Amino acid sequence: MPIVSMQKVTKDYHLGKTIVNALKGVDLRVEKGEFICIAGPSGSGKTTLLNLIGCLDKPTSGKVFLDEDDVERLNDNQLSRLRAERIGFIFQSFNLIPVLSALENTEYPLLLKGVARQSRKKKVLAMLEEVELANFAGHRPDQLSGGQRQRVAIARALVTDPEIILADEPTANLDSKTGETIVELMKKINEEMNSTFIFSTHDSMVMKYAHRLIHLQDGRIA
Ligand SMILES: Nc1ncnc2c1ncn2[C@@H]1O[C@H](COP(=O)(O)OP(=O)(O)OP(=O)(O)O)[C@@H](O)[C@H]1O
Ligand SMILES: [Mg+2]
Repeated sequence: MPIVSMQKVTKDYHLGKTIVNALKGVDLRVEKGEFICIAGPSGSGKTTLLNLIGCLDKPTSGKVFLDEDDVERLNDNQLSRLRAERIGFIFQSFNLIPVLSALENTEYPLLLKGVARQSRKKKVLAMLEEVELANFAGHRPDQLSGGQRQRVAIARALVTDPEIILADEPTANLDSKTGETIVELMKKINEEMNSTFIFSTHDSMVMKYAHRLIHLQDGRIA
């Protein structure tokens, strides 16, 4: 069974009287452990697609399944639990909490999950070790470089052992060399933990790392 399955998914946005057809019938199956890249020009629907997979938004029509769960059948509580427990998010602009240290940012999803203190500390330190930031645990985001911030975001996304990691242009705010180290880190974690990554990018260097490249064009898979 695929970990993500989309069937004839459409998404319309209403802007006053105009309707934007952001997705126009997308079918997609993602198997566990894949490292998939969504590529396509600006406005082609990449963020919309990732938001639907991440249950941050609902399709206008069509079906989204995560494992056997039909997302449409889940209520808001079930959806937020699903997001907290099964999905890790990495964003272009890192989205770290500015007043919290690297350690506290990484710990935050575990607090939300109600994980006990001892076990939290252990997981957070292991994760910071994994992204090679153990020596920066006490640094706030403004005391870190762009690449280091994105590594904190990766640690935060992965600390709960999510089945699926969604990354929307994770390297877009980084120089190309730092961007490459970030994809290499994602790939390493994908191989070590067999976690499923779905990420979007404009950057052909980043695309090269993907097992499978999905081209979106004007709301459709090309
Ligand atoms: N909240 C919204 N309200 C109205 N229209 C939207 C909204 N979000 C996206 N759109 C429109 O939907 C289409 C797809 O947008 P989306 O953000 O998914 O593209 P994208 O491929 O992620 O682009 P980019 O590479 O610039 O991030 C665009 O035409 C966009 O203007
Ligand atoms: Mg986008």
